Amino acid sequence: MRILLLGSGGREHALAWKIAQSPQIDHLYIAPGNPGTAEVGENVPIEVNDFDRLKVFAVANNIDMVVVGPEDPLVNGIRDAFKNDPQTAHITVIGPSKSGARLEGSKQFAKAFMQRHGIPTAKHRTFNSQTLDEGRAFLASLTAPYVLKADGLCAGKGVLILPTLAEAQAELGKMLSGKFGDASAQVVVEEFLDGIECSVFVLTDGRHYQILPEAKDYKRIGEHDTGLNTGGMGSVSPVTFATKEWLQRVEERIIRPTIDGLAEEKIDYRGFIFFGLINVKGNPMVIEYNCRMGDPETESVMLRLKSDIVDLFEGIAQGDLDRRKVVFDHRAAVSVMLVSGGYPQQYTKGYPITGLDGAGDSIVFHSGTVVKDGRLVTNGGRVLAISSYGKDKDEALKKSFSVAEKIDFEGKYFRGDIGKDL
Ligand code: AMP
Ligand code: GLY
Repeated sequence: MRILLLGSGGREHALAWKIAQSPQIDHLYIAPGNPGTAEVGENVPIEVNDFDRLKVFAVANNIDMVVVGPEDPLVNGIRDAFKNDPQTAHITVIGPSKSGARLEGSKQFAKAFMQRHGIPTAKHRTFNSQTLDEGRAFLASLTAPYVLKADGLCAGKGVLILPTLAEAQAELGKMLSGKFGDASAQVVVEEFLDGIECSVFVLTDGRHYQILPEAKDYKRIGEHDTGLNTGGMGSVSPVTFATKEWLQRVEERIIRPTIDGLAEEKIDYRGFIFFGLINVKGNPMVIEYNCRMGDPETESVMLRLKSDIVDLFEGIAQGDLDRRKVVFDHRAAVSVMLVSGGYPQQYTKGYPITGLDGAGDSIVFHSGTVVKDGRLVTNGGRVLAISSYGKDKDEALKKSFSVAEKIDFEGKYFRGDIGKDL
């Protein structure tokens, strides 16, 4: 099998690492990839939204399957672009259609979908510039803190949680007058939910699903969950409060109704669904859907997936995912992100990275790196994800933290409290 994987972050390096282990793989290409993916496959310099060039490449290189890492090309309709072109219609795309990707691409669509199918989520209403006054009044009917969500994709910056009513009302006005461009032409205002978050992932062929290992992500830059939101500073799998009983509730109340709802609405959805959940007094509720895997969750989830991931992808292609086996590794896995000083605000790129040979049995996934003049240097806010196994999370964390100390670049920072709250 010849696979083309799209994306260039730590998630894609982890996916590439896992795909490359499959006995079914003849050749793995990654577009555009990074120096880490180049170690397990062949990078191709094509951007993820350049569908025309991706199609030409896929045809010329006899690609059997395209695996889509990030949300952007899915929301832009890459599945439809391949399917509607007779040259590429035979190629399996792992990822939903444009219509299915609305679960992530439109918060309003996702909320309405959950309402239609009785899936537990925060109470909400959606407003536009014509209904700003009603939005302000709705905010006044809620209690602090206040949650405002831009309807469309904002590279992870579109959710604001505000402590006072005055700030929330002012912010609603700014969002509706173009703070995030078109993405905030509609704003979802919702009730704040108090609890611990957990990410649950499934693969679906549109009718059947398989549940992958769950993970917890650490979003804030500062220890003890302080400071600005980031793309994610680390992850841990399994998640202690996600007991068998709790996950059973997730499956019955959230996963099954979602898959059935998509089928009922005849939405072509074959790929990953990422359920961003919050545990409210033992009851799982949906904070958000994503139409792809999480980053940095993938950097621990892939370690815990023992099964051949390409066999699962084949199950999606054949529509018999129910007959494929998902086996979890019994060990714990964690990932600690090394980031550039200043991230998630301003930071400098191009610092040489040293100490990679001291990784021991940890796996170092590249997130924001590039090779310049023969040297590996930093090339993003999130630079490297240090992933480790352990008999429990503490043993795994000890390994990752020890490697995180050894690898170095100017301004390096990581959270030393990943996993300590569980
Ligand atoms: P998102 O960008 O959609 O991942 O949201 C960012 C973060 O905002 C989530 O991971 C949650 O921590 C938080 N959040 C979103 N919606 C709510 C809510 N209704 N109640 C509490 N926290 C929320
Ligand atoms: N780790 C959260 C995300 O990928 O959106």
